[in-house]
Amino acid sequence: MKQVLIDRYGKPEKVARCADVSDVGAPGPGEVVFDVIAFPINPADISFCRGTYRLKPELPATPGAECVGRVSAVGAGVAHVKPGDLVINLQRENWTQKRRVKGDDVIPIPSRLDLRQAAMLRINPPTALLLLTDIVELKPGDWLVQNVANSAVGRLVIRLARARGFKTVNVVRRESLFAELTTLGADVSVVDGPNVSDTVKAKTGGAPIRLGLDAVSGQATARLSSCLGDGGVICNYGSMSGEDPVMPRGALTSGGQTLVGFILGRGLAKRSLSEVREIYADLGRQVLDGTLTAPVEKVYPIEDIKAALAHAQQGERSGKILVTPNGTI
Ligand SMILES: NC(=O)c1ccc[n+]([C@@H]2O[C@H](COP(=O)([O-])OP(=O)(O)OC[C@H]3O[C@@H](n4cnc5c(N)ncnc54)[C@H](OP(=O)(O)O)[C@@H]3O)[C@@H](O)[C@H]2O)c1
Repeated sequence: MKQVLIDRYGKPEKVARCADVSDVGAPGPGEVVFDVIAFPINPADISFCRGTYRLKPELPATPGAECVGRVSAVGAGVAHVKPGDLVINLQRENWTQKRRVKGDDVIPIPSRLDLRQAAMLRINPPTALLLLTDIVELKPGDWLVQNVANSAVGRLVIRLARARGFKTVNVVRRESLFAELTTLGADVSVVDGPNVSDTVKAKTGGAPIRLGLDAVSGQATARLSSCLGDGGVICNYGSMSGEDPVMPRGALTSGGQTLVGFILGRGLAKRSLSEVREIYADLGRQVLDGTLTAPVEKVYPIEDIKAALAHAQQGERSGKILVTPNGTI
């Protein structure tokens, strides 16, 4: 079977290759085997290939934080899924044609789910959800500001915030995205830059903003901080700039602002397995009814992993890059 391997850390399209490896075999007791239908290439996967991600396993290694699959066989004692079920996998190493995993690691999802959307259900939707529920207690009418607002996470934040009555200021890198974000439910959109806080103040009528969601880091964090009121919280959850977040000292001291961090794994680890399953069941329902979607720019076969990786690193994409290891979407 085919599987993506990286033999060294470096430029993703240089270090990743599609290799032939042994089959995963039949499931043992408590195990599940599934065929991988599709996986997205996320920023964390790019960092993983570069060797800059928090996890840096021994090589060769297989990337892939998420995927959607179809169960082909289950071992003795597995009752919550059966052959034919669609599943997402809580474990990594998903850039391959088949996985054999512990039964508890797969979560069944509705069979009618769009397969492209299902491939992107595991990470970004719960991230957007927990960014809105776990950082600051927001009430309907409260404002938050986020950068990378046109990313998959950013779009999901807009939708989920709108459903809760929270108002969003959305920071992006080009004005041509404003109309699309407004259609999703954005209240205000602005282009990032040195005067972003003045623009935000003008467009919100100076409304106090309590939460800033930052996935760019570097000086972009300081610019989000300049949009927040006293006592506001910046939550850093990514670094598209590759830098560490910069917070102005005055915002922390006299402004009483706080800089905190978020990672999905920690957010889910605070919850029981049944709560985690319930989160995915609820997000699955919202994907099914079309409330939550993430656009896709192109789908590649696994043999073209190098081209797919190069494409995923281009700016100004209209959506995610997906890979279909068995050619089933
Ligand atoms: N902490 C967690 O648990 C967690 C979980 C999921 C995702 N994340 C993070 O969330 C962020 C978004 O992920 P995603 O999958 O939603 O991304 P995505 O859909 O692949 O979109 C990438 C976004 O990053 C922007 N971008 C790229 N390079 C940039 C730069 N140098 N400066 C500013 N913006 C830049 C792009 O803007 P353009 O369109 O202008 O190019 C686009 O909005 C990433 O940082 C990711 O690591 C974190």
